[in-house]
Amino acid sequence: MTERRDAVPTPMADPEARNRIVSARQRNEDQRVDGSLRPKSLAEYIGQDRVKTSLSVFIEAAKRRGEPLDHTLLYGPPGLGKTTLAAIIATEMSVSLRVTSGPAIERAGDLVSILTNLKAGDVLFIDEIHRLNRVVEEVLYPALEDFAVDIIIGKGPAARSMRINLPKFTLVGATTRLALMTGPLRDRFGSVLRLDFYDVESMTTIINRSAAILNVAISDDGAYAIAMRSRGTPRIANRLLKRVRDVAEVRGAPVIDRALTAEALEMLDVDELGLDEIDRRILRTIVEKFEGGPVGIDTIAAATSEESDTIMDVYEPYLIQLGFLQRTPRGRIATRHAYDHLKILPPATIDVQQQLLFDDVE
Ligand SMILES: Nc1ncnc2c1ncn2[C@@H]1O[C@H](COP(=O)(O)OP(=O)(O)O)[C@@H](O)[C@H]1O
Ligand SMILES: [Mg+2]
Repeated sequence: MTERRDAVPTPMADPEARNRIVSARQRNEDQRVDGSLRPKSLAEYIGQDRVKTSLSVFIEAAKRRGEPLDHTLLYGPPGLGKTTLAAIIATEMSVSLRVTSGPAIERAGDLVSILTNLKAGDVLFIDEIHRLNRVVEEVLYPALEDFAVDIIIGKGPAARSMRINLPKFTLVGATTRLALMTGPLRDRFGSVLRLDFYDVESMTTIINRSAAILNVAISDDGAYAIAMRSRGTPRIANRLLKRVRDVAEVRGAPVIDRALTAEALEMLDVDELGLDEIDRRILRTIVEKFEGGPVGIDTIAAATSEESDTIMDVYEPYLIQLGFLQRTPRGRIATRHAYDHLKILPPATIDVQQQLLFDDVE
């Protein structure tokens, strides 16, 4: 497999990703080790069994027919392995991978030039595909459906449209926000696969695997302690592992164990569930300023000085997964578990109140 890379927006431009140890977004320091830690085949890819099973069936079937894989859309929160899977798909299909992203393709011509340079069977990976602009997206429709693009030659009255046939290729799209994708684009994918947060067992396996690759000794309880704090997200697990390793080196500790992990992550202000200061600020805001909610996302954003998009992309999914936050038709509410975690006494009527919010809509 060969890989060509187009301009991918630099992660350092994003303040959330720059400052936050438990950010699921990619940072420069991740890129250095990502290469070595990234699983190269489906067999090496840990967890996400449902996705792996579907993909291996689709890949096998496509290979038997001697055809490219159907266009595949991967969606889920950042850091769960979408880019990794795109590369694995190309490897498993024994074809080349071409990597780009929604914001990197500015004009229709950029996409036409990428498409016309593909070889038969190639995988084109478009990251953040929900951020493609309309004009570019319209070029993509016939490319996906008919393997052709229509280009306009000439200007004014002499202008005419010409259809160029493309080799049959596979588009792999990735998005953190399925809801922001247009219907017509979504409909053109043969399969849509959702990645979920990893369970603690898979996370522990991933951490042990990464530790072996990085050549650091880790005990079972050490791997478990990091797994518990990694928000079900491999990218965060790998980053925490490296930080804990730094502490181990400075202390001269031969093995990463539970005590060392607890100490290192306390220093980084990551609590026992992997929440950091910003997560707690979001929960506290809902609880203290808005009496537990319901409160709209934009109001939460304004009160915490975070972007609504970042809250929806990065913080909220995991807080919902933990059962700390719920989305209701009237806004977000903090649950009893959130109060417990913040060590704040919930109002005596919290369960009744929250039940009413849901009954409301039915
Ligand atoms: N299933 C997995 N098994 C082991 N490591 C994984 C897995 N998924 C992701 N990773 C690790 O997490 C990092 C982030 O994955 P990536 O594919 O970049 O996430 P995404 O594109 O969804 O943001 C990768 O570099 C890889 O090392
Ligand atoms: Mg990615």
